[in-house]
Amino acid sequence: MREGENTGALLHVGRARSSFSGKMGYVLAVAGSAVGLGNIWRFPYLAAKYGGGIFLLVYLILMMTFGYALIVSETALGRMTKKSPVGAFGAFGKGIAFRLGGWINAVIPMLIVPYYSVIGGWVTKYLFEYLKGNTAALADGDYFTGFIGEGFSAELWFLLFSLVVLAVLFAGVKQGVERVSKVMMPVLVILAVFVAGYSMTRPGAFEGVKYFLVPKFEDFSWMTVVAAMGQMFYSLSIAMGILYTYGSYIKEDVDIEKSTNQVEIFDTAIAMLAGLMIIPAVFAFSGGEPETLQAGPSLMFITIPKVFASMGFGTGAGVMFFLLVLLAALTSAISLAESGVSTFEDQLGWNRHKATLLMGGIILAFGSASALGFGVLDFVKILGMSILDFFDFLTNSLLMPVAALATCFLVTRVAGLDRIAKEVEQSSRFRRKGMYCLFMRFLAPVCIAVILLSSIASVLGWISM
Ligand code: PHE
Repeated sequence: MREGENTGALLHVGRARSSFSGKMGYVLAVAGSAVGLGNIWRFPYLAAKYGGGIFLLVYLILMMTFGYALIVSETALGRMTKKSPVGAFGAFGKGIAFRLGGWINAVIPMLIVPYYSVIGGWVTKYLFEYLKGNTAALADGDYFTGFIGEGFSAELWFLLFSLVVLAVLFAGVKQGVERVSKVMMPVLVILAVFVAGYSMTRPGAFEGVKYFLVPKFEDFSWMTVVAAMGQMFYSLSIAMGILYTYGSYIKEDVDIEKSTNQVEIFDTAIAMLAGLMIIPAVFAFSGGEPETLQAGPSLMFITIPKVFASMGFGTGAGVMFFLLVLLAALTSAISLAESGVSTFEDQLGWNRHKATLLMGGIILAFGSASALGFGVLDFVKILGMSILDFFDFLTNSLLMPVAALATCFLVTRVAGLDRIAKEVEQSSRFRRKGMYCLFMRFLAPVCIAVILLSSIASVLGWISM
């Protein structure tokens, strides 16, 4: 890859390391990876489930402190070592702890992309139904459960979505897809503002706005913190090796603090907009029933069609909405799968096609199990969860905290806070250095350990979720 061919999109790691052409290119690429199903599908359902305003408050605090410190660390470590996670950990030591630290970061995206593609499949199916004009049928509360429960239908849509992802990786036309998505992103924001405005002004919706924005302390539980932290990792693409890789592509002139701020603001704004589209709609169209608020992964697919069915031009809005969500999901799935492929290329020395095939095999195996877990494999429950929920829990609530802990140790015990600070200061003053050090040294490891233990305790049934 020649230098200068890069238009700002993230390129895969070939034998020679590519870099971003400009500061804006880097922010756009990270924002493009951050904004995905996590913001539009996952954030609203978690907020609805875990207490609304109190979840939002906990999320914002964690994002500004903890999330911030971790993004800065991962990016600085990537830029310092010019390596993706396995290599970055390996650059500091050869022991088993370093290998494990690197690999856990690298394995997480490989475990996320299969079930992510299942949800991508659901989105594709809904787009297809809107194109056929089935707006009223989709608004039926039981439509979604019928669809995922019915034999192999969800599996077929998952296969279609994954094939597109793999084809893009195989052909290496990733840049084209990212360019399209960058144009679509502003359209997504405008449409989201519009739909949120519509949804918030329906009769009865105001209760939902209050539920989402005003914290009620009696709704607080440990699970609020566990869920908010997992969501923060997921949404900002933290603790999955991605930011090491992105950091490794940037030059010394990129202001790490400033770009972290920009990405966090953008990502959170989209998540909040999605919350304002979906949660007020639960109150306006389902009377704010606790049952709907607890709907979990299906929430977006149940409430958004009701909003569209009540609009004059709902079919058009439905087509637009699901098309844009599909694009956001595709770019995220591609960047997750890409990270797996480049780990195989770099660590196993495989060529791109072989690496893509292995990634495809992983997606097919775990994704099919997740897709069928609501249908023919309905009887399979792992720790009481459906297969898809289990993968989500495994990555977000167990593996990501461990990966984040590994990064904390690498920063504080091995690389040293001063070296990270120097790396950041190459491009700007480190304005929040005091908070950064406090967090990395004390608060972050303690918080993560507590979160990890409560996740394990809840799985074992010692505390209730
Ligand atoms: N952050 C993305 C989301 O919110 C998920 C993702 C993680 C995408 C890592 C790419 C890389 O959906």
